[in-house]
Amino acid sequence: MNVAVILAGGVGSRLDSSHPKQFFKVAGKTVIEHTIDVFEGNGLIDEIAVVMNPAYMATMEEIVLKNGWRKVKKLLKGGSERYFSSLAAIEAYAGRRGVNLIFHDAVRPLINNRVIEETVRALEHWNAVDVAVPAVDTIISTEGDFVDTIPDRSRLKRGQTPQGFKLETIREAYRLALQDPGFRSTDDCGVVLKYLPEERIYVVKGEESNMKLTYKEDSYLLDKLFQLRSFSLQEQEDSFEELRGKVLVVFGGSYGIGAEVAALAKGQGAKVYCFSRSLNGVDIASLEEVKRSLQSVAEEEGCIDYVVNTAAVMVREPLNSMSYEDICRMVEVNYLGMVHVAMASFPYLKESEGKLLFYTSSSYTRGRAFYSLYSSTKAAVVNFVQAIAQEWEPWGIQVNCINPERTKTPMRVKNFGIENEATLLTAREVAEKSLKTLLADFTGQVIDVKLNR
Ligand code: CTP
Repeated sequence: MNVAVILAGGVGSRLDSSHPKQFFKVAGKTVIEHTIDVFEGNGLIDEIAVVMNPAYMATMEEIVLKNGWRKVKKLLKGGSERYFSSLAAIEAYAGRRGVNLIFHDAVRPLINNRVIEETVRALEHWNAVDVAVPAVDTIISTEGDFVDTIPDRSRLKRGQTPQGFKLETIREAYRLALQDPGFRSTDDCGVVLKYLPEERIYVVKGEESNMKLTYKEDSYLLDKLFQLRSFSLQEQEDSFEELRGKVLVVFGGSYGIGAEVAALAKGQGAKVYCFSRSLNGVDIASLEEVKRSLQSVAEEEGCIDYVVNTAAVMVREPLNSMSYEDICRMVEVNYLGMVHVAMASFPYLKESEGKLLFYTSSSYTRGRAFYSLYSSTKAAVVNFVQAIAQEWEPWGIQVNCINPERTKTPMRVKNFGIENEATLLTAREVAEKSLKTLLADFTGQVIDVKLNR
């Protein structure tokens, strides 16, 4: 029997956050939920034991109930040091025959099935298995403030988890270790290496992406890696079959990306309703008009599954020359309009456990001249999406935003004139990615759409 032991007994003092880092939220879930999801979905894992910091037991119980995982059989109390947490699991299975324990840090949520499978398979031949990646930096050994030795980098690797063991092997290693008054450890393979030197520890190739959330900076990288992962998941999904019969509302659907989203979804059998100023006089700057529009669709169809907002205005001018009217208009449509669409959609999306999709611009990461209003309102889209994705996750509503590179739309032509088409995305390409995002299962993500021809 293969038991995944998820080590979550730590408090994450190096991350400097109000919660332990295993509860840090990324891509709509806590880090530990992502981690357990992977083991729950892996066919070689029979059972999962989670080792928790006792102070967070109740939080973890709620998370287990909410997720309905079928393999999570034990919630164990961890100790003050990591090895106490490993020991808790070893003792919980003591005496059981034919058990492999596969220890994994809860704070490595990007673990993949390949690494888990190779670790489990290696246990058919070896009693202890480690996972590691090559050392990219030169590793130096120091004595005080000075370099002592520089080991040959080609032989050095950085250890990750999972680490897998036959239960009897790891139990025996710890039995001997605990008799040693000088025993200290942050690594279970290290315990086997030191106390059972005759055991050979096989090394499985890890992944750079299997990073450990440790410092604040790691959280930004993790966010980005999840974003890339969700994007590659979309790449695999190329059927829009699920759209058939679904009710989709598009604000700003009269031209450009919105019109393409509507046309493409209609072609796939979705029931599509478009609202815009030119089409039917609906201005998202007015909360009442947005509410009325959605209500009319709900009365007609009985539900709303997806709401997409592509409505935006762009005036590319220095702040000093911009009319105050234009300034207000950009804030009202691009920012307040987005808030209106979200507020008015909530009651319907709550019912359908539906999805909300907004659009940002690749200029959102850095402000630059001529874009003060446009880019800052688009930066607000990203921040807003991340926030409400978390707030609405308990209702099963998913909120994401698309970040298209330069796209040939009437708004762009108005601002930039004629450009070389080979350098621009088409509205159709952006619409395809938008529908894929509506069909995917993630939230709080910024999906980059890049020119890929
Ligand atoms: N861990 C554990 N029990 C402990 C300490 C750590 O189960 N007493 C777990 C952590 O929850 C984490 C993994 O071991 O999933 C890796 O440890 P580390 O990154 O050192 O986590 P923390 O101890 O939480 O972090 P820090 O060292 O920054 O306080």
